Amino acid sequence: MPLPDPMILPSRRGCPFDPPEEYARLREERPMSRLRLPGGRVGWLVTRYEDARAALADPRTSPPLIQVTPATELPLPDDELAVPPGVFSAMDPPEQSRYRRLVSRYFTRKRCREITPRLEQIIDEQLTAMIGHGSPVDLVEWFSQPIPTLVITEMLGIPAGQRSDYQRWIIAMLSLDTEPEPLRVARDGLYGGLAELVRARRLEPGEDILSDLLHGDTPLKDDEVVGIGALLLIAGLETTANMLGLGAFALLQNPAQADALRADEALLDDAVEELLRYLTIVQFGLTRTARADLEIAGQTVRAGETLIVSLAAANRDPQVYPDPDRLDLLRDQAPHLAFGHGIHQCLGAQLARVEMKLAFRALLTRLPGLRLAVPADQVRTAAEDKVFYGVHELPVAW
Ligand code: HEM
Repeated sequence: MPLPDPMILPSRRGCPFDPPEEYARLREERPMSRLRLPGGRVGWLVTRYEDARAALADPRTSPPLIQVTPATELPLPDDELAVPPGVFSAMDPPEQSRYRRLVSRYFTRKRCREITPRLEQIIDEQLTAMIGHGSPVDLVEWFSQPIPTLVITEMLGIPAGQRSDYQRWIIAMLSLDTEPEPLRVARDGLYGGLAELVRARRLEPGEDILSDLLHGDTPLKDDEVVGIGALLLIAGLETTANMLGLGAFALLQNPAQADALRADEALLDDAVEELLRYLTIVQFGLTRTARADLEIAGQTVRAGETLIVSLAAANRDPQVYPDPDRLDLLRDQAPHLAFGHGIHQCLGAQLARVEMKLAFRALLTRLPGLRLAVPADQVRTAAEDKVFYGVHELPVAW
């Protein structure tokens, strides 16, 4: 039987919280679908939970530097693109494991517990400033964007006066409609700024991750530390910001669930996992290249072919999550794939979880009367113009 024509990665959403409807049909009828990639090549789209886990855990798949989106590949559709030193998200073992071991010590459960008082302080100060400004406000501008920015830039030792520049550059780099010239400015700003900071920390270390990587027990070269800094900013800032903004939107649209959470803080852990599953902001999935022929869901994938593993589709697989399109903070659930799976699984997951728990708890308890300040259908979402799904603004009142 001839294969159906390759399709373009689905991106159009009906409901702001649900992935494109096509995923449900694909998962049911064609769990391995032919996909037309932006560079003109053809790849495979993986939509079932078990297949997604198998693809991500398979040592014959590796992550290229590019991230496929429906219209483009970032940063460039170029197979020869060299991976910059330190950017281990696009490396295979043993290089990836060597870097990961060095960096993961800053993001352990223990480390997150140690910095919790500082995280609480950042969240508290941000909420106080927002309340001081007065209702209504844009929650993205006052809450969901600044908190993760402050956290990760402070951990990296980026001077306070430069933090909003980094935030702006990261947002530009992860927006799909940034023109080439501003994109170049943002990339140069990020890498140039980090290179300058690393040179300064080489001479005079501070109490931060970059200094520690330069002067620690396994000292790294300057360009490796720049690459790690860029990776942590690209991976840790917009992701957490979008989960906070979109998560707040989902809670406001599900008031009974928000009330349950207010009434019982013991629900926080499960609530954050369910929000991660339900919202899956890594909306275009994870890109992998097959290094050898392999088989997924009975389909042969040839060496060199590209796989797009849809975390959003896998996290709504009804075989694993009964009534998957319902937000249910009490759900007794299988581990979700919002942080990926396998050796590249999110290194900052613990930090992201703690940030979300503390931020949602503070928001719900300090502002029990929080509500949307506009009709829900006027909230602009980033389904087609950002790498990570989220809300552009979230006007709220109390
Ligand atoms: C809710 C927020 C977040 C989400 C949804 C998220 C999601 C993900 C996903 C899906 C991956 C796997 C990528 C792949 O396999 O190709 C990943 C990897 C990664 N994440 Fe996160 N992330 C979040 C927050 C963070 C934070 C706060 C940090 C650090 C500050 C971080 C650092 C990283 C790094 C360094 C990797 C690459 C790990 C490797 O390749 O070994 N992430 N993240």
